Amino acid sequence: MAVIINENYLLIKSNYIFSEINQRVEKYQNDNPDVDIIRMGIGDVTRPLPRAVVEKFTEAVQEMGDAKSFRGYGPEQGYDFLINEIIKNDYAPRGIDLAPDEVFISDGAKCDTGNIQEIFGLLNTVAVTDPVYPVYVESNVMAGRTGPMGDDGRYQKLVYIPCTEDNGFVPELPTTPVDLIYLCFPNNPTGTALTKEQLAQWVDYARENNSIILFDAAYEAYIREDNIPHSIYEIEGAREVAIEFRSFSKNAGFTGTRCAFTVVPQELVGFDGEGNPHSINSLWNRRQTTKFNGVSYPIQMATCAVYSPEGQKEINESIDYYMNNASIIRNSLENLGLRVYGGINSPYIWVKTPQAMDSWQFFDLLLDEAHVVGTPGVGFGPSGEGYLRLTAFNTLENTEKAMERISKLNL
Ligand code: MLT
Repeated sequence: MAVIINENYLLIKSNYIFSEINQRVEKYQNDNPDVDIIRMGIGDVTRPLPRAVVEKFTEAVQEMGDAKSFRGYGPEQGYDFLINEIIKNDYAPRGIDLAPDEVFISDGAKCDTGNIQEIFGLLNTVAVTDPVYPVYVESNVMAGRTGPMGDDGRYQKLVYIPCTEDNGFVPELPTTPVDLIYLCFPNNPTGTALTKEQLAQWVDYARENNSIILFDAAYEAYIREDNIPHSIYEIEGAREVAIEFRSFSKNAGFTGTRCAFTVVPQELVGFDGEGNPHSINSLWNRRQTTKFNGVSYPIQMATCAVYSPEGQKEINESIDYYMNNASIIRNSLENLGLRVYGGINSPYIWVKTPQAMDSWQFFDLLLDEAHVVGTPGVGFGPSGEGYLRLTAFNTLENTEKAMERISKLNL
């Protein structure tokens, strides 16, 4: 007998998009060692952790080295001290009541948005916006929910909801019933946002069709305009139909430190084959207690400092810094006559490729001639073909340099 693999893994592309880009960029750098490459591909931050966070982190590490204050396993769901800060600062001021057992601390929105599908049956129909953060799609492929990819680059059993220039990047409600709906707003990769009214249509749809919305709000800190919801629970009735994912990566620089959380309201139910209702919160709790041992104590203590006045001040400075980069990118590319989206309520800028180039051609051109790395839009799904994503997360100096180099190209 030989070991049999999970053949669903054979249905996914051999490389995760950001690994693929890294490999190409590394090869390019090896072939051209003297070239100074500016990375605006993966959405990784460059500003350091806030001082207030580092201080709390250091203090908590010291506690762990002292027998009197040492802590072993913490609660799998996270410590109450952090959960209470989240509820008090992120939700209560927006009029959203959450109970502590509705918030689950984790090591990343990527992990949670990838893992959440496990608690749902394989027969559910899954809808994703297109282009889309690849984790939602690929975690469902691995689970066996999507079937193989067709010639059109779409998994046959997934429902794709195009977000394109034609519809202003606003996803239209599905025409066939769907059970699970992944929404990410402000959107990765297009950088566009939904208004309260637009998101409310999805909440209404989910209520009418007994669907569940998996709402990724990892970029909410970048919202600048009024009338853009920071949480899906600002929409009436969302508690019964939505799970929300949040992250400290993009607002507080935790990409390398890892801390995030997921909100699973007690009202949410799913059904077994006999039609009996079951609490989604209990299922997620059951999943986490079996497979996850919680985020470390020092990290959770450090995360609390995000909410301190000093932490907030530093975080806001970083967000302003990145949003200044975003407007530099937008303006520079617009001045070159390119069609540019996003970058107003989000750190991502979504650029239409010039001269009818495809996404990878534009990627190669930018890498070869400007030594700037973007992410080819097609890596986020078929409707991303003909676009490229740039991030505002690099330094101001590099952002300006990148724009100067791009402006010298013959686009
Ligand atoms: C991205 O570039 O899309 C994100 O950085 C990926 C992530 O947050 O996992």
